[in-house]
Amino acid sequence: MSAPRHLTEAVALGVSAALVFSAASGRAAQTAPDVDGLIAQMTLPEKIAMLYGATDPEHYGQAGYLPGVPRLGIPALRLTDGPAGVRTAQPATALPAPVALAATFSPDLAQSYGQVIGRDGRARHQNVILAPMVNIVRVPQGGRNFETLGEDPFLASRMVAAEVIGIQREGVIATVKHFALNNQENQRQSVSADVDEQTMHEIELPGFEGAVRAGVGAVMAAYNKVNGTYAAENPVLLGDVLRKTWGFNGFVMSDWGAAHSGDPSLTAGLDLEMPSGRNYASLGDAVASGQVSESAVNQAVRRILSSMQAAGLLAPVADARPAGEIPDASPVARDIAIAGAVLLKNDRQILPLSKTEDVAIIGPTARVLLVGGGGSARVPPMHAGSPFDALRQRAPTARLTYAIGDDVEGTTVPASALTLHRTRSTGGDAVVDPIVAFEGAAALAAGTSWTWTGTITAPATGDYMLKLQITGGRGSIAFEPPAAAGAPGGATGRGGRGGGRGAGATALLSTHDGFTNTNAPVHLEAGVAHPLTVTASANDTAPLQIRLAWLTPTSAADALAEAVRAGKAAHTVVVFAYDESQEGRDRASLSLPDNQDALIAAVAAVNPRTIVVLNNGAPILMPWADDVAAILQMWYPGQEGAEATAALLVGDASPGGRLPVTFPKRLEDAPTNPPDRYPGVNGHSAYSEGIYVGYRWYDQQQIAPLFAFGYGLSYTRFEYSALTVAPRGDGFDVTFDVRNTGTREGTDVPQVYVGRPAATPAPMAERQLVGFSRLTLSPGKAGRVTIHVGARELSYWSIVDHDWRVAVGQRTLLVGASSRDIRLKADVTVK
Ligand code: BGC
Repeated sequence: MSAPRHLTEAVALGVSAALVFSAASGRAAQTAPDVDGLIAQMTLPEKIAMLYGATDPEHYGQAGYLPGVPRLGIPALRLTDGPAGVRTAQPATALPAPVALAATFSPDLAQSYGQVIGRDGRARHQNVILAPMVNIVRVPQGGRNFETLGEDPFLASRMVAAEVIGIQREGVIATVKHFALNNQENQRQSVSADVDEQTMHEIELPGFEGAVRAGVGAVMAAYNKVNGTYAAENPVLLGDVLRKTWGFNGFVMSDWGAAHSGDPSLTAGLDLEMPSGRNYASLGDAVASGQVSESAVNQAVRRILSSMQAAGLLAPVADARPAGEIPDASPVARDIAIAGAVLLKNDRQILPLSKTEDVAIIGPTARVLLVGGGGSARVPPMHAGSPFDALRQRAPTARLTYAIGDDVEGTTVPASALTLHRTRSTGGDAVVDPIVAFEGAAALAAGTSWTWTGTITAPATGDYMLKLQITGGRGSIAFEPPAAAGAPGGATGRGGRGGGRGAGATALLSTHDGFTNTNAPVHLEAGVAHPLTVTASANDTAPLQIRLAWLTPTSAADALAEAVRAGKAAHTVVVFAYDESQEGRDRASLSLPDNQDALIAAVAAVNPRTIVVLNNGAPILMPWADDVAAILQMWYPGQEGAEATAALLVGDASPGGRLPVTFPKRLEDAPTNPPDRYPGVNGHSAYSEGIYVGYRWYDQQQIAPLFAFGYGLSYTRFEYSALTVAPRGDGFDVTFDVRNTGTREGTDVPQVYVGRPAATPAPMAERQLVGFSRLTLSPGKAGRVTIHVGARELSYWSIVDHDWRVAVGQRTLLVGASSRDIRLKADVTVK
């Protein structure tokens, strides 16, 4: 068998994608202007201006803008994030985090997900979607792991292809990002991913290749370096791989601020610098001086216009679907949240709950939905219900109590602790404010700015968390510790991209009444008046509501004690736990933030019927896993997350997800534990674990994970039988039966893995995913599944031939319910 150059299935996807593009835009090809004809009419300054971003006069609030050439009918391009929905100043459908989508193992759902993004993008006047993200989850702490499609290249390539088709079907351009090896957030702007050729091709690139084969119109070059050269000027990536090997003919843009040069970047294949022309604005001078040829400029313009052409953006707009209202995509968002929910544990079938149950609900994300992760993928949702309220609606006769457990809101700082004068920025007399709490009728007028200066005095010495809670504006806290006690602290609350709970960070979780929640940790000495300044300004159109709250040294213990009391009093407890993953910063550890581990352990100690619902974006450690009865992994579930969670808890729906990432028992078990691998030494991350990323590593090292890749339970059970393997085409057809042997309807995701031959021609994983299916079966019913394993799936990347080569010999095809739960196998001879 000879090695194919392309993914057979993805080639098919690519063909249909091209058709879909023009069919969806509804524009006949002959009505669109000829790209080269347009270029011939453009002046050099007009061409250069096509190659870097500018400011949008329309203020839609998206990430990027290109003005176009109105004289020639070339329209402006608006570029918007991102991977979990459309991010502009207006709300849009906030979908479950991409990791939840990956957990569905369903290309069909990935296509629907993409279509929602594409449709919303058009409704919000956008033309280019800065998604999907397909960087492999290599580092479990990675801040953006929630934004991408898991640790396995085969899964990622299948999901991304379908999502790209879905996005582009709506007549907008998708952008696969971040090309390539942007696997960590710490030092993301500078670190060099030092990777060998085999690992790059087998692990890091297939997701991008899947998107290209599916007809993606744009690629975003990453911030980091790859083997010492910035990704945005890397000729191996942008030239050899993308253009020559994959035949990509769309355009490459830089990540925001990722371009570092003019000429070298353009020559390497970077067509568009975003968000502004720090390097590319002067390309005209470089052409004038003969340093850069005009044909290189023409080529970059041609690539941008060709993608616009393919998306139907250059044709007359008469048949364009009008921008305007967001179509209701709540059912899609809810179905995906349910389909991607992973039931990790369910002892004694404690889930689903009876609708007349007596339940204590604990945790801040039970009351305030944690819609999505932080950063450019954060979407202002159309709406976001409370899981607690959704549960009450679905089970009106249940007895539900609530305790916050992990207090993220605090209480208003009392008058006894404050001496503050408020002044208006426009001048006037200072007013004495006993407390800072301007809410409802007391809100401060739109367009006004205020400063409070004075002191804060605590009743007891200790660590406090000041919290600035705002809606309708923005503000900040400046706090000065007494001279010897440390450096000045500060916090800014903008409700923007922020995410973490550290100094000055706006928490992802807003307060129960929808205020942004900015944390400023301070140490206060009893009785000492510490200088404090709070500034805030209202938006032009909305009044400013603002609260200065705090957590005291005893509040964490008080909240925990109250939760334990509630948990003990109830028949069953559901503890909602969360992490706050965000762009720009990796998690410091895999532990849940705050005192959540202690909280879960304390509640489980008083109530054996403790269920944990997780709202997180990536692997976490679960020191309490053995002590709780059930664990339901909901990820960041998007705007319909409350409904989805409630439906799952009471059994109106059943969880259908499987883990797209391995959950390790300890951080030390992870492949990237040595510091030279992550975060890197002297600016270099050594990818010396090679192809052993994710489950491939745990298998090779024989380390038992906490929960394996591909794992997930159901409210029912499935059995596999009657395996046959038959040679067909470029590989084998693997056929088997899946039977629902339980008593409820449920969804299963059977997976096919392939083992390596005894004599391996190169490093090869003990087993790797080469196929999967997803089927929903009623009790007692069976389905026959056939999965084709093609030549590419049987191949490795040869560093001798610089191409894919089939690994021949005796190999085993394995059918399993996870990478560690193999149920059937058959040996085959691969020739
Ligand atoms: C992110 C990209 C995003 C861009 C525009 C960058 O910081 O890395 O993923 O698309 O900003 O918001």
